[in-house]
Amino acid sequence: MDIENKLVQFIKRYMSEDPTGHDVYHSKRVAKMAKELVNSDKLTLSEEEAKILLSASYLHDVIDDKLTESKDIRLKEVEKFLVDNHVDIDAVMDIILNMSYSDNLKNKKKLSTIGQYVQDADRLDALGAIGIARAFAYGGHKGNLIYNPEINIKKDFDKETYRSQKSTSVNHFYEKLFKLKDLMNTNSGKKIAAKRTAFMEDFIAEFKEEW
Ligand code: ADP
Ligand code: NI
Repeated sequence: MDIENKLVQFIKRYMSEDPTGHDVYHSKRVAKMAKELVNSDKLTLSEEEAKILLSASYLHDVIDDKLTESKDIRLKEVEKFLVDNHVDIDAVMDIILNMSYSDNLKNKKKLSTIGQYVQDADRLDALGAIGIARAFAYGGHKGNLIYNPEINIKKDFDKETYRSQKSTSVNHFYEKLFKLKDLMNTNSGKKIAAKRTAFMEDFIAEFKEEW
């Protein structure tokens, strides 16, 4: 079995049943997009680097503390997977522990070049048609409202406020999703982010009109 198939089998254990938009197909899209961004920026990766890119793409949400209460156990299992498959542990861990939006609210973490591609690919999956679907799925799962015009958009928050405060899914577009296009690392990522963000802006304009 090649490394990509092994990664898919490994994450199925954790992510198959996820109803919040962080299922196996999210990880597959991130891996595919990360490879496409690297190619369109004409970057050449060694075999070792390609394994790091794939592993970080597939594993990044397995250890996310908003999706699991057993982060420490999962970290150990991820490390074992990487050792067994001869992937550079430090390189992958450095990416998946530092790439999340919430962990970058206070201090922006410096990611490796490969990490910057994986982070952009993950962020692109929060945009566009799929991004819209994921935002409402996540908000619904958390018990948030679709929209309430009496709830104000929050500004300047740290990770705790971002995660804990009640908001609405529509507010989440302003609180995070519309900001992503200016936070992209890579040239190829910036272009796709601009297109997907424009689509979401149209969606929100139509939504407000119907409301
Ligand atoms: P990260 O894991 O990078 O810290 P998030 O916690 O924002 O980022 O989670 C990733 C995805 O989950 C987002 O792109 C979005 O689709 C969804 N999400 C997170 N928080 C909310 C929210 N309050 N309302 C709607 N969707 C959310
Ligand atoms: Ni993700």
